[in-house]
Amino acid sequence: MENKRIVLASRPQGWVTEDNFRLETGTVAKPAEGEVLVKNLWLSLDPYMRGRMSDAKSYVKGVDIGEVMVGQTVGEVVESKHPGFKAGDKVLTQLGWQLAGIAKGEALTKVREGAAPLSYYLGVLGMPGLTAYFGMKEIGQPKPGETVVVSAASGAVGSVVGQLARIWGCRAVGIAGGKQKCDYVVKELGFDACVDYKAGNLYRDLKEACPKGVDVNFENVGGEVLDTTLRLMNLFSRVVVCGLISEYNATQPYGYKNMRSVLVNRIRVQGMIVFDWQKRYGEGIQELGGYLAQGKLKYRESVVEGLENAPRGLIELLKGGNFGKQLVRLA
Ligand SMILES: NC(=O)c1ccc[n+]([C@@H]2O[C@H](COP(=O)([O-])OP(=O)(O)OC[C@H]3O[C@@H](n4cnc5c(N)ncnc54)[C@H](OP(=O)(O)O)[C@@H]3O)[C@@H](O)[C@H]2O)c1
Repeated sequence: MENKRIVLASRPQGWVTEDNFRLETGTVAKPAEGEVLVKNLWLSLDPYMRGRMSDAKSYVKGVDIGEVMVGQTVGEVVESKHPGFKAGDKVLTQLGWQLAGIAKGEALTKVREGAAPLSYYLGVLGMPGLTAYFGMKEIGQPKPGETVVVSAASGAVGSVVGQLARIWGCRAVGIAGGKQKCDYVVKELGFDACVDYKAGNLYRDLKEACPKGVDVNFENVGGEVLDTTLRLMNLFSRVVVCGLISEYNATQPYGYKNMRSVLVNRIRVQGMIVFDWQKRYGEGIQELGGYLAQGKLKYRESVVEGLENAPRGLIELLKGGNFGKQLVRLA
């Protein structure tokens, strides 16, 4: 079967550029016993991919030069040599940035067709939705009446975090870049308020949006956004350190100034990686699927067309050019 794939050509220094990728063509062989040939339909683009392009130590090994870029896909089984799968099944894969590939049956997860669009299993019903769910439930632990702040609020993770905060009886305050995204967060997603960090008055505007201070900060951005939010945190509040996207392309670490707030307010600051809840993904998908079916969770996607445009899609995502969960349509 004909294939196209995008490999890592070089490691970025600072911002990612299109030169860091190379498009290759080739063929996919036949699956061996226990393997499955999958044609990819959707590729997820995620901020963590910036980390995998680097060789710095992280929670998972980076992509090697010349290796296919890492990524989750939803695909269709073309040929199966594994008893658990048949042609036509829809599956979640880790085949990465390519049109087709061979995976061991054990590495695939079947997705149920019909309940939701297939692409949702890469977003609200997939890794980003589960990150929001477990990060909030297990680390943020919001109680009714508390104030939850989430940065990158219009995005894949942030949009779910704020909506869960509302469903669970909290005041939800978003931080996002620009009026259009902030309007969407309040008017469409139903947050109580959203602060535009690009307007230049983050501390003042966030203070106004959080008259009772902040009990849970779900941090997706880091840098100045996190440092400013720390100044407004309440006694015994929690910070869920989920992502630090503003720092991913920086060549110098951001110098935090407000750690004193952690001490005097006895704030619990905890990092989270969604894989730690892998055994409970079923629970998360069921809960999120239920809210979605009841119309309590709104969701938006940002789609680039074709594998060739995946590098541009990732570069845009890292700059905030996406508006909703970033995907590549492959077929
Ligand atoms: N720990 C985990 O297991 C886990 C899992 C999934 C995701 N994450 C993290 O969660 C965060 C959100 O991921 P996502 O997939 O939901 O992406 P996303 O929010 O859909 O897209 C990224 C958003 O980040 C914002 N952003 C980019 N650069 C920024 C900057 N310099 N300052 C402030 N905001 C900036 C942009 O929104 P604005 O236009 O509003 O700035 C952009 O739209 C990322 O940090 C990611 O690494 C962590």
